[in-house]
Amino acid sequence: MSAIALILTSLVLNFSFSFSVKYYGTKTLYEESFTNEEWKEVLKSKLDHPKTCHPIYLSAIFRHGTRSPSTSATKKTEGFISRIKSYYNKIGRDNAQGHAEKLLNWSNRFSNVKDSMSLAEKGREEMRDLASRFAKRIEPYINPTALRMAFTSSNKSRSIQSAESFRESFLSYYSIKDEIPVQLSDIRLRFFSDCPKLRNTIEKNKNALKEYYSFPETFAAQEVIKKINMALNIPADLGIQKNELKSVFSFCGCENAVFGHSKICDLIEEHRTVFEYLSDLKAYWRNMYGYKLTSKVSCTLLKDIFEDMLLVQRDHERGIENFEQLHFQFGHAETLMPIIAALGLFRDSTPLRADEFKKNIDRKLRVSKIAPFSTNLAFVLYHCKDENKEDYKLQLLFKERPIPFPACESEILCDLEKVLKYYHWIMNECHRNSMCEILRDEL
Ligand SMILES: *[C@@H]1O[C@H](CO)[C@@H](O)[C@H](O)[C@H]1NC(C)=O
Ligand SMILES: *[C@@H]1O[C@H](CO)[C@@H](O)[C@H](O)[C@H]1NC(C)=O
Repeated sequence: MSAIALILTSLVLNFSFSFSVKYYGTKTLYEESFTNEEWKEVLKSKLDHPKTCHPIYLSAIFRHGTRSPSTSATKKTEGFISRIKSYYNKIGRDNAQGHAEKLLNWSNRFSNVKDSMSLAEKGREEMRDLASRFAKRIEPYINPTALRMAFTSSNKSRSIQSAESFRESFLSYYSIKDEIPVQLSDIRLRFFSDCPKLRNTIEKNKNALKEYYSFPETFAAQEVIKKINMALNIPADLGIQKNELKSVFSFCGCENAVFGHSKICDLIEEHRTVFEYLSDLKAYWRNMYGYKLTSKVSCTLLKDIFEDMLLVQRDHERGIENFEQLHFQFGHAETLMPIIAALGLFRDSTPLRADEFKKNIDRKLRVSKIAPFSTNLAFVLYHCKDENKEDYKLQLLFKERPIPFPACESEILCDLEKVLKYYHWIMNECHRNSMCEILRDEL
């Protein structure tokens, strides 16, 4: 009896848990990328560290906040929905039931948004909230002054506006009235663009991305297509097509993030994990671990960050007081994902393959958790001092919570020296021109 009760309870719990999960790949809302427990920790906005160590510098990189969908995701989604509508207009709207009925009066709520992929009000709000949590986090240790902080953004409106919302909220927390410019640098934050070798060998190379492109042909994806079209009760040639899966998922994620609900997400809800796998395959092969070059090109940004750390350390050691305290940078999912891979985080032991959806169900690389809107990575430099010695340590915060450096396994602070040694290739072998250049015999 009690065993049955236990099973029933766990079924109910499981059900309510999976029901509340809103993972939509890179279009996941920041807050929804956390479990409830994790989110509670985030809201505490406290740095966790030994008593003998004090933070002296923080450098963080953010993806822009929630944005509207791309033109291509919108076009494909509108095409799919309009086929449903015209089918039922032809056979009689009364025949539409369930999801089909609900989608008959679907309209594109982004139609009055002037630019595709522009930052939404929700995105500004995320940035303001992030800024106040970061402000609160450093408050006991760092007294920020305008001259000792910097804001850098890629030259895209969604990143610039994210930087501005963050800055406004951060400065107002400290009642700082000075104007601090947002410096624009695509070279820094869009290192993934203008790299011919990356473009030719990976990004535009369908063969290099074959695990991603072939996923819609796999049994798992074909089953999903069949079931969605059955649920809509429409002929297969009018239903969702294999080349629309990614766009429909992406569009639904944007709708959910901006408006808090999406009928299109409801339609695919039962199959969401299959859509997530598609998204993860793309991230794995195009932006993360599939090929070395993808993460290697992020070394320019990482090297800048590490070199800034070393400057701060040097000045601090010499008792020079005006070293930089804070640096906040704003970019894209394509900025963060290669960096996460270069650092060696969320690495699975085997590559993600199109036909291994079931086998990889517990994979570490889950874009919904790794690269949601506003995802961020912060490096915190600590000065540590006890009776015997004095040194500098680094802490990594991923989405505002400590994550160990691979160089230090389970410790939350790692010797700066040890970190730099571990990533010596970043400091010593980061030559963008030779990485990105296409040699004659490679053409
Ligand atoms: C669609 O219909 C439902 C009820 O059938 C209604 O609640 C909703 O407001 C309608 N949406 C639009 C966009 O007209
Ligand atoms: C940013 O982009 C605009 C055009 O989109 C260009 O006119 C401007 O020079 C760029 N600024 C920088 C600093 O790259």
